[in-house]
Amino acid sequence: MFGIKDKIAIITGASGSLAGSIAKSFAEAGVKLALLSRKESSLTELIEEINAIGGSAKAYEADILDEKSLETVKDQILSDFGRIDILLNIAGGNLPGATIGVDKTIFDLSIDAFKTVTDLNLNGTVIPSIVFGKAMSEQKEGVIINYSSMAVERVITRVAGYSASKAAMENFTRWMAVEMALKFGEGVRVNAIAPGFFIGKQNRALLTNEDGSYTQRGEDIIRNTPMKRFGEVEELNGAVQFLSSDAAKFITGIVLPIDGGFSAFSGV
Ligand SMILES: NC(=O)c1ccc[n+]([C@@H]2O[C@H](COP(=O)([O-])OP(=O)(O)OC[C@H]3O[C@@H](n4cnc5c(N)ncnc54)[C@H](O)[C@@H]3O)[C@@H](O)[C@H]2O)c1
Repeated sequence: MFGIKDKIAIITGASGSLAGSIAKSFAEAGVKLALLSRKESSLTELIEEINAIGGSAKAYEADILDEKSLETVKDQILSDFGRIDILLNIAGGNLPGATIGVDKTIFDLSIDAFKTVTDLNLNGTVIPSIVFGKAMSEQKEGVIINYSSMAVERVITRVAGYSASKAAMENFTRWMAVEMALKFGEGVRVNAIAPGFFIGKQNRALLTNEDGSYTQRGEDIIRNTPMKRFGEVEELNGAVQFLSSDAAKFITGIVLPIDGGFSAFSGV
């Protein structure tokens, strides 16, 4: 029921931390991978690691905000693999300019940075979903999983643009799930995961000091996490495999929190 062997999966933002982990986990489960990155060379190491565990992966160069480059890559993937079963929209993240400084307020926010981060996190999921989702609608089968964030469910101070754009992306997840089921049948499912706090490239400096201790921000998060720790990146992979598999075949339009209880906790 949970098996995903021989499925064809596309992963956007494949050179990132969370993407690398699920790519290896999928490879171990027998999934064949089409890995997307703006720079193909950024995927060399990951592909070697996947080959070393007997997996199968191919790199493709594309910008998730560029519909034409995605259309070209879709044709290449369909010619290389024959179909598209799973799309993981992982590319995304916060941008330094879109976060309000410690001593600043919303009135210091850079509108340009707000627009850029919105483009990345909202349109960066919408455009690949439309391009690759079309192939799924023609097959009448497929799974899309978007990577949202806890910053939607609970307000994270200073992080304005990232939170608003992930919130819009969650709404789009539900919207597209309904659209696909109503117009193309139950075979194409669209869901999202909402990771809590996982230390990676983007947030390491924000959450930990050089000596490994937590920053004030890191301490605040742990205080609000009933499990009293940050997540391990690998702890997302079981949920993604579940949503990708037939075990979840009646599940569409949900956002699954993976957060050590953060979203359930009032802090009291
Ligand atoms: N790490 C966490 O704690 C955490 C928590 C919640 C949500 N998330 C979300 O999970 C996803 C992955 O996070 P991560 O920590 O692995 O980040 P990461 O920075 O390691 O990976 C993001 C990837 O997206 C790629 N990317 C950015 N813009 C792109 C574009 N225009 N075209 C193609 N690729 C582009 C980057 O090159 C990078 O490889 C993001 O969407 C992030 O918002 C992460």
